Amino acid sequence: MCEATAPGKIILFGEHAVVYGRSAIAAPVSQLRATATIAANNTAGIRLIAPDLEIDVQLGTLPDEDALAMTVRQVQRAINLPQLPDLTITVHSDIPIASGLGSGAAISAAIIRALATYLKQPQLLDNKIVSELTYEVEKIHHGTPSGIDNTVVAYEQPVYFTRRQPTNLIEPFEVKRPLHLIIGHTGMRSSTKTVVMDVRRQWEADSVTFEAIFDACGDVAKAARFAIEQGDMAQIGRLMSENHVWLQKMSVSSPKLDKLVDAAMAAGALGAKLSGAGRGGNMIALIEAGMETAVSEALFAAGAMSVFQTRIS
Ligand code: MEV
Repeated sequence: MCEATAPGKIILFGEHAVVYGRSAIAAPVSQLRATATIAANNTAGIRLIAPDLEIDVQLGTLPDEDALAMTVRQVQRAINLPQLPDLTITVHSDIPIASGLGSGAAISAAIIRALATYLKQPQLLDNKIVSELTYEVEKIHHGTPSGIDNTVVAYEQPVYFTRRQPTNLIEPFEVKRPLHLIIGHTGMRSSTKTVVMDVRRQWEADSVTFEAIFDACGDVAKAARFAIEQGDMAQIGRLMSENHVWLQKMSVSSPKLDKLVDAAMAAGALGAKLSGAGRGGNMIALIEAGMETAVSEALFAAGAMSVFQTRIS
């Protein structure tokens, strides 16, 4: 039996603009994880079990575009194996689905690693390969993913990411002082693919305005990297709040996200913004250590469905 895990993720700065080549910052959320287990099967074929998703199926019966099936096929293609041995893949995840925390990417990355180990293909355990294979699957969820989600989930470290041809720029950087973050979940699911497509429609209709917004987000991400490297918490917080305003201008915030962001700020957060695709999902607030209870309570009072703390270092 083989088991592997991968973390959830948050986008700290630059979501959406990153799809258009501007730099963005993301970090892993290591306490939320997807786990994949591979075991030999005594019946023919590949059985996929995901109790959280109420899935228990034979791989062969899934449509080609199914993310779990596609993940397995990506591995098969990468090692050029016409047929996989009979096996059971079981997936568990404590990352909320469709919440902007990278659950899809983490599940794919965990399956790829577990399969690579089970099939004795250590070359597939390389972070770059895990990220590339996960990216192929991400295209189903996102349509035109930037590549930031699969990168941070596969490398499991904070990254300054720029989408580039032929290869993306992936720059790990120093986090001088740990970032204490509160993540508040709106309780509303959001489809990254739909929101990303909607931003594209708006960009096509008014590229001058949207290019300027994306430039501003890129500048914020660049300044934020510097502030994180310097450990300048007040500046990081200010930049988060500024990024939220640009995301509002892209129309990817929502009344609920705005309410949670305002509540966090009123409770003393240094900065707050939506995180991920928006329209639902999560917001994040940067706090000084010791403010956890005050900000968490304010978020619950403002209608957050769940709240948890994470620390980026
Ligand atoms: C989603 O986590 C981040 C987006 O920028 C999409 C992407 O980068 O692929 C909204």
